[in-house]
Amino acid sequence: MAKAVIATWKMALAGAERAMNILEKGGTAADAATEGVSLVEDEPSFHSVGYGGRPDRTGHVVLDGGFMDGDTLHFGAVASLEGFRSPVRIARSLIKGDANNFLVGEGAALYAETNGFEKRDNLTDEAREIYDREKERIKNLSAYDGHDTVCFLTLDEHGTLCAATSTSGLFMKEPGRVGDTPVPGSGFYADSETGAAAATGMGEEILKGALSYAAVSLMEQGYSATEAAEAALGRLETKLKKRNGCAQAMSLITLAKDGTWGVGTNVEFPFVTGDEENGVRLWIARPENGKTVIEAYEKEIG
Ligand code: GLY
Repeated sequence: MAKAVIATWKMALAGAERAMNILEKGGTAADAATEGVSLVEDEPSFHSVGYGGRPDRTGHVVLDGGFMDGDTLHFGAVASLEGFRSPVRIARSLIKGDANNFLVGEGAALYAETNGFEKRDNLTDEAREIYDREKERIKNLSAYDGHDTVCFLTLDEHGTLCAATSTSGLFMKEPGRVGDTPVPGSGFYADSETGAAAATGMGEEILKGALSYAAVSLMEQGYSATEAAEAALGRLETKLKKRNGCAQAMSLITLAKDGTWGVGTNVEFPFVTGDEENGVRLWIARPENGKTVIEAYEKEIG
């Protein structure tokens, strides 16, 4: 069985190496996805995830994360969580049980504390300085240019697919605002009998199309990972432009049960893949005439 990973943005590079290492040693897709995302959460130079994430309008770093097991379709998610190290680990722990799988705000924090998850003030000095400098200037919110949600899709030697996501959301968002990242079907979805998908970009747009489930549903109908990513993204973009005159930034990654992957995007979008044959590689995708063109990423890795 193929072992594979696909992850969003350049910032996922070291995490993808960690995830592939876990898979190559016979580890599970769940561990590979969790550890890959968690590494990104811990790196303060990434300004849209975990430690070092940019704050909301009131200066608080509040985090969202999700996790899904494609064998059982069980998911766990947290949203508007403040003061803990790893939303993805907390989200993953919530897949246990038939209820209480998605916790928000104070309830999520109470759960994390009760269950011994590591606390951390995720507001770094750098993020505080950016907030102090920008808070009067920023009027329109947008997905952060060049970084946004970290998403990992992983496939292990047993054929299990998993999806994991984490974000600090939009810089200067309203307190309590939640985007697509922790919402199953929008920010992520995994079904080991078909494929997995995860999204990054403007959460309010992605939520309008339940974008990740739309892609997995197309794979269920026989679309390849590439066809599903392009079609799901393209259909939502077309619909939004028709209804509202524009579509904001969105990108989508897919991983099929045979280890093949795909990407759909309406902006320039770096991403990372890994498999046993080719190792871990960095790519850049861009939209061109309704299709997604993908090339090896040649720019300096930052
Ligand atoms: N895609 C992340 C967000 O909109 O919060």
